[in-house]
Amino acid sequence: MTIEKIRGLVTADLAAVDRVVKERLRSPVALVDQVASYIIHSGGKRLRPLLVLLAARACGHDGARHVEAAAIIEFIHTATLLHDDVVDGSSMRRGQETANEVFGNATSVLVGDFLYSRAFQMMVTLDRMPIMNILADATNAIAEGEVLQLMTAHDPTTTEERYFDVIHRKTARLFEAGAQIGAVLSDAPPQVERALAHYGRHIGTAFQLVDDTLDYEADEAALGKHLGDDLAEGKPTLPLIHALQHGNEHQRSLIRDAIEHGGLDRLDEITRAVASLGGLAYTARRALSEAEQALAALSPLPDSEFKEGLSELAKFAVARKN
Ligand code: IPE
Ligand code: IPE
Ligand code: MG
Ligand code: MG
Repeated sequence: MTIEKIRGLVTADLAAVDRVVKERLRSPVALVDQVASYIIHSGGKRLRPLLVLLAARACGHDGARHVEAAAIIEFIHTATLLHDDVVDGSSMRRGQETANEVFGNATSVLVGDFLYSRAFQMMVTLDRMPIMNILADATNAIAEGEVLQLMTAHDPTTTEERYFDVIHRKTARLFEAGAQIGAVLSDAPPQVERALAHYGRHIGTAFQLVDDTLDYEADEAALGKHLGDDLAEGKPTLPLIHALQHGNEHQRSLIRDAIEHGGLDRLDEITRAVASLGGLAYTARRALSEAEQALAALSPLPDSEFKEGLSELAKFAVARKN
């Protein structure tokens, strides 16, 4: 199933999410309006809202709250992107200049805060304490993950364990929260809620692992982001960690130096070393294994086209090129 086919399972829901997003973006402060619209309307795959909608439908949900929940998740995601591009010094996202590039760092950070707090206003209207709880914890974990990553930057001794800790927090937690909320909204039994939470965590982990390979090997135009953003900031992602363990002295010193000092001067040489040492293939294998665990986690759910959609989404997370 292509991603369009998966989206086709919840076309009307996705259109409703877009309407809620548009409506809830509004602010009487013109610059807030302008920047929030700039990033929200710049495209983006809308994978997290899709996940919420499919999870809710797979649990038999037939109300309208899943639409609001999906919009909340997209707002939180978008807020993290605004902040992330500032801390990563990134200049391209979704095929256009980042908000920090166009409007400056201060504006990006503050509009990110607007989107976070708008998400919390929307949560209040959902009026479900367990959902508030899940989203408050997930949002907090993302912030911890981003700070933890800041602490590992420029550190070539970063372990795989530490790397997985970072990506679980900064990325997987929001996928986990989205899938879990789909179950909670639908009053699904506890084993189904747990199953969806596990599914979300594994698909989110797979998603970030793939993201970290794409930073070295994607087609930049398709990705819509500059290659080498991670290396530029001296981020010890899994492809580099693996290559460091397997390289000869020359290769190790090349990679250690790149992590310590950042910069893109030797991107090509490093990409070749990481590829030839199997760092990209290893990371892709780990992503595949996470996607398989995501699929396996779905077994307690009753069969439906939406469950099928969730399975296909897990496959998309590893096959994606952007
Ligand atoms: C980007 O997420 C941030 C990561 C967790 C890697 P997406 O790739 O889902 O971003 P958009 O919303 O489609 O632009
Ligand atoms: C993704 O961070 C996680 C968050 C935005 C919280 P990355 O820095 O790895 O993602 P990209 O590559 O900028 O999209
Ligand atoms: Mg980034
Ligand atoms: Mg980042």
